[in-house]
Amino acid sequence: MNRPVLEGVRLNPPAYVEHQRLVDWVAQIAALTEAADVYWCDGSLAEYERLCQQLVDAGTMMKLNPELRPNSYLARSDASDVARVEDRTFICSASKEDAGPTNNWMAPAEMRALLQTGDKALFKGAMKGRTMYVVPFSMGPLGSHISHIGVELTDSPYVAISMRTMTRMGRGALEVLGKTGNFVPCVHTVGAPLVDSEGRGQKDVPWPCNPTKYIVHYPETREIWSYGSGYGGNALLGKKCFALRIASTMGRDQGWLAEHMLILGVTNPAGKKYHVAAAFPSACGKTNFSMLVPPEGYTGWKVTTVGDDIAWIKPHADGRMYAINPEAGYFGVAPGTNEHTNPNCLASLKRDAVFTNVALTDDGDVWWEGLTETPPAHLIDWMGRDWTPAIAKQTGAKAAHPNSRFTVAATNNPVLDVQWDDPEGVPIDAFIFGGRRSTTVPLVTEARTWAEGVYMAATMGSETTAAMAGGNGAVRRDPFAMLPFTGYNMADYFQHWLDLGGQLAAKGAKLPGIFCVNWFRKGDDGTFVWPGYGENMRVLEWVLGRLEGKAGGAENVFGTSPRFEDLRWDGLAFSRDQFASVIGIDKASWQEELKLHAELFRQLEHHLPAELPATKARIEARLAG
Ligand code: OXD
Ligand code: MN
Repeated sequence: MNRPVLEGVRLNPPAYVEHQRLVDWVAQIAALTEAADVYWCDGSLAEYERLCQQLVDAGTMMKLNPELRPNSYLARSDASDVARVEDRTFICSASKEDAGPTNNWMAPAEMRALLQTGDKALFKGAMKGRTMYVVPFSMGPLGSHISHIGVELTDSPYVAISMRTMTRMGRGALEVLGKTGNFVPCVHTVGAPLVDSEGRGQKDVPWPCNPTKYIVHYPETREIWSYGSGYGGNALLGKKCFALRIASTMGRDQGWLAEHMLILGVTNPAGKKYHVAAAFPSACGKTNFSMLVPPEGYTGWKVTTVGDDIAWIKPHADGRMYAINPEAGYFGVAPGTNEHTNPNCLASLKRDAVFTNVALTDDGDVWWEGLTETPPAHLIDWMGRDWTPAIAKQTGAKAAHPNSRFTVAATNNPVLDVQWDDPEGVPIDAFIFGGRRSTTVPLVTEARTWAEGVYMAATMGSETTAAMAGGNGAVRRDPFAMLPFTGYNMADYFQHWLDLGGQLAAKGAKLPGIFCVNWFRKGDDGTFVWPGYGENMRVLEWVLGRLEGKAGGAENVFGTSPRFEDLRWDGLAFSRDQFASVIGIDKASWQEELKLHAELFRQLEHHLPAELPATKARIEARLAG
């Protein structure tokens, strides 16, 4: 094999690397970015520990008290680099129409000039003075026919260690790649070279990043280029960039789905197991739902986690849709996670976790808003400042950033599904779509047809959260919870869902049921009416009951919802009036809601499938009737 030599840089490919195109590409990016050194990650524990120590020495992370939180770290980001930057995220397809009206678009040549080829291209010299880590990874079980390989080149060791937790990272992925396999090339830099334009050395900072940020996808060539951020979905390129934006375009071309969905297994007392995939926008409880603990009275029921954020779903020869979780870990929102909301998650986080932007306790452990009812008397907040309840009262300062996160391996989860790593995936029985809506949308509704389900998912609205920079609680349409993650025209994506359902139905397959839920309706006093969390089991049981044809319900304008007597209430004091306030359909609110659907359809009218306005017209007729 030809091993290119760069002047002054050792490319260092280990002997087991046999993929010439990969080595050539690494050489090309090392030359472009002028990285000082190249390091190939093997994914071993020893390597992880070494890089963690390096991050501790650099001041990026600190080791938590090993007696309270063994083998765990706290990282603090720059205060300006705390969330996904949707307004800096681009889909650079050859035609603007292909990116569609919901994505930022720039012509590929123009973007390449900005990033790679122009005189002042941002990636030129961007890694000066830094090591470039070569991070090979598999999204999905190694070797599964549903999985795909990516390689991320990054100058952030924090990204390298996070990728080990979040993906199957290292030598195993290279073995799958072999000599000629395909991979999605992902280039990432924090955009903070350690040598300035005059060639003078610069002192590093604990969390290097750049105020200019670009998160760029080229769907035709399946490439990802990310500049300026070291945080979460901006930088761990296997997650949103690959597993959703690029994978959604692969799915469109190849007849499968890449979705912003958790996958759970639910087993009833008779031992029958179902699999449910559920889409909720960021920070709306996917992790909690995927690890749900059934409430008292649900003896013999068990919920197990296949995934908490992303599902890749492929139709199988038997006519069913099979799903894998392409990830291997959880990058979850910390605030609000506690013994009541998600005890299994807390158990997962007892050890081996990296926390980012949470607060530090005086005894070297972590804390975030909602972890305990009473906060500790003193903390160091996510920016490294003293924090007390009195300061918080005065200034409103949060101890943990609202989008602070934990990163932990799926294997730490006590309710991990036995099939979570199954290369064949699990057959999906139902899809659930849910937004965060304080009004209007009922607790649960079943679509009567596939098209009605696609309509429900397409028109979903949700109040924005801190997972996106600038999220402020305003309702925005978030079709399929995929608004920031669909790598092509959203209207074509709706068509893809309709087509896939149509093709499977034509083969005589029984399609998964489609349901729409809303855990977040508020009463006149501004508090949530539905208790949520483990109590969502009652809704899940109804969903399964509908699949089995056993659970009752009443038709409303856009589907079928349970009556009070159709849900099980043992162990929960929830009155008929309370139920009415979370299930009811208010005509006036729905008339307003439909105007918002119309606005979305106007925005997407160019490619909008005719079935969607037709479904809307039927809802309007029922509402008027
Ligand atoms: C995530 C997100 O990090 O959706 O999962 O923002
Ligand atoms: Mn997500």
